[in-house]
Amino acid sequence: MKTKNVVVTGGMGFIGSHLAERLLEDNEVTVIDNESTGKIENIRHLLDHKNLTVIKDSIVDLNLIEIFKDKDYVFHLAAIPSVPRSVKDPFNSNNSNVTGTLNVLIAARDAGVKKVVFSSSSSVYGDTPTLPKREDMSINPMSPYAITKATGEMYCKVFQDLYNLQTVSLRYFNVFGPRQDPNSQYAAVIPKFITAILNDESPVIYGDGEQSRDFTFVKNVVDANILSCESKKTGVFNIACGRRITINQLADYINEILGKKIKPVHAKPRPGDIKHSLADISRAKEFGYNPNGNFKDELITTLEWFKNVY
Ligand SMILES: NC(=O)c1ccc[n+]([C@@H]2O[C@H](COP(=O)([O-])OP(=O)(O)OC[C@H]3O[C@@H](n4cnc5c(N)ncnc54)[C@H](O)[C@@H]3O)[C@@H](O)[C@H]2O)c1
Repeated sequence: MKTKNVVVTGGMGFIGSHLAERLLEDNEVTVIDNESTGKIENIRHLLDHKNLTVIKDSIVDLNLIEIFKDKDYVFHLAAIPSVPRSVKDPFNSNNSNVTGTLNVLIAARDAGVKKVVFSSSSSVYGDTPTLPKREDMSINPMSPYAITKATGEMYCKVFQDLYNLQTVSLRYFNVFGPRQDPNSQYAAVIPKFITAILNDESPVIYGDGEQSRDFTFVKNVVDANILSCESKKTGVFNIACGRRITINQLADYINEILGKKIKPVHAKPRPGDIKHSLADISRAKEFGYNPNGNFKDELITTLEWFKNVY
């Protein structure tokens, strides 16, 4: 993608900051973020870039039409991204994730944006036993967060059908990489395990640790956003690696890479969490998505970043 004028909502977040950084290589980028779960530190190194504009406000409250008026594409990542947080506070998750998404879509329609790329989630599949998950399977949201993402996808489809706004919904499967926040009580498993083991503390495994995830390196998610935006394709796509790693294996790998032997402790399974997750990624391959990295190498890259920061 070159010489385009684009918006990244949630651009101070973990994934959004990587996407904004890549897009800035060849495009004008406007980041919108209310710093609720993201932080300016994630894009501090980009702030002097002449093609970057940063707007610190909520996608729920802003008059987005004004901002979107001269924009080609909107990458919509802003959301409260946690399952357990949505279980505790469904109202606020709904506000940012559903009302915010509706505000983005209405403004994109009215401003004549060419395409909206929406960050959805594998959580929409819920605990259906069939693996791998395919986009044509029925969904089964098990948490308020999953409901917000399923609703966002449906709004994208309806805006495309009713108003001819081109949309893509990308269902990410457990993304990891540098800049992922380990500190919140709602942090994801990889940053939590890395910081625990780096500090010689036992990582906490909810359940027996045999639950598995299709862990996806953040570079692949950035590629998927740009490729799907450039493509003529629309609709829902799984974004993952098509490989499954258990939580016990994850703890073993991190110990091995760091040369440690920290034993995890086990706690009760968390409500709303699913047992296994694995994606069929053949549909995304049709727009050129090709995640070819090796999990251990990606984990080493991630660990290097955490070693410098934590
Ligand atoms: N990280 C994952 O594994 C994963 C998996 C599936 C889907 N996703 C989705 O990808 C997107 C990015 O997730 P992330 O992991 O980078 O999370 P993140 O919390 O680091 O990023 C989300 C960003 O959105 C911002 N935000 C939240 N509400 C906002 C609002 N009302 N107005 C403006 N900005 C707002 C936050 O401040 C934050 O910077 C989210 O939509 C998330 O649901 C992430």
